Amino acid sequence: MSIHNEIKRVTTQSLYKLKKENQKISMLTAYDFSMAKIIDAAGVDIILVGDSASNVMSGHETTLPITLDQIIYHASSVIRAAQRSMVVVDIPFGYYQGDSKLALNSAIRIMKESGAHGVKMEGGEEIKDSILRINSAGIPVMGHLGLTPQSIYKFGTYNVRAKEKAEAEKLERDAQLLQEYGCFALVLEKIPAKLATKVAKSLLMPIIGIGAGSGVDGQVLVMHDMLGINIDFSPRFIRKYANLHEIIDGAVKEYIKDVRSGSFPNEEEQY
Ligand code: KIV
Repeated sequence: MSIHNEIKRVTTQSLYKLKKENQKISMLTAYDFSMAKIIDAAGVDIILVGDSASNVMSGHETTLPITLDQIIYHASSVIRAAQRSMVVVDIPFGYYQGDSKLALNSAIRIMKESGAHGVKMEGGEEIKDSILRINSAGIPVMGHLGLTPQSIYKFGTYNVRAKEKAEAEKLERDAQLLQEYGCFALVLEKIPAKLATKVAKSLLMPIIGIGAGSGVDGQVLVMHDMLGINIDFSPRFIRKYANLHEIIDGAVKEYIKDVRSGSFPNEEEQY
């Protein structure tokens, strides 16, 4: 039986409970009030204010340009809509790497100025000090391993990560360490399904996959991809649940036609 309906507000504890009871966790991105209101009411467990906002909201090629002020703006809009979902916010590139005091300051700004419930950071052992410092301030931290888009210029491509033994072993080690540092959950992006399943089975914290197969504890997708708003990006791990691009395109063309022909507004649509 599903325990999702019993959860009034998703917390780190409820996520652990869902994993313990073998119930999958759903997570989607959102960046604004109106969309967040729909997906929260639909029952998504976690809303991620991802730095993918840099791509889908601002049109940048990578996630690197988004600033702390910008992500706080998106997060504060999302949080006003979230009644049940836990809202987790990406700390953008350049606001936590290599300096744990900066990391804590960034996390505190996100929590204080947006009202978010937790933060997410990319990386393993190398960001240990930042995770520990943020955690010790009582701020829940979600990890992110595998394809970490903030490191795109190091990787050189968005191809599947950890296919080779050495990288897979490092990922397993990092995942274990992130749990030891106190992360409450971990995103695994674009890695072999077998490896993701092994990590999920070996750890207590929930593992949320994106392009990591079905053997993990939950799934996350970028909302614009799964709703078919973004038609320029279709890797195999995205399932399109709607074709909003076509629907919006059709509606806008109809509107333009009606305005040009003078059929909008009609008698009932005016005062
Ligand atoms: O920024 C983002 O949307 C993400 C997800 C892809 C997990 O980090």
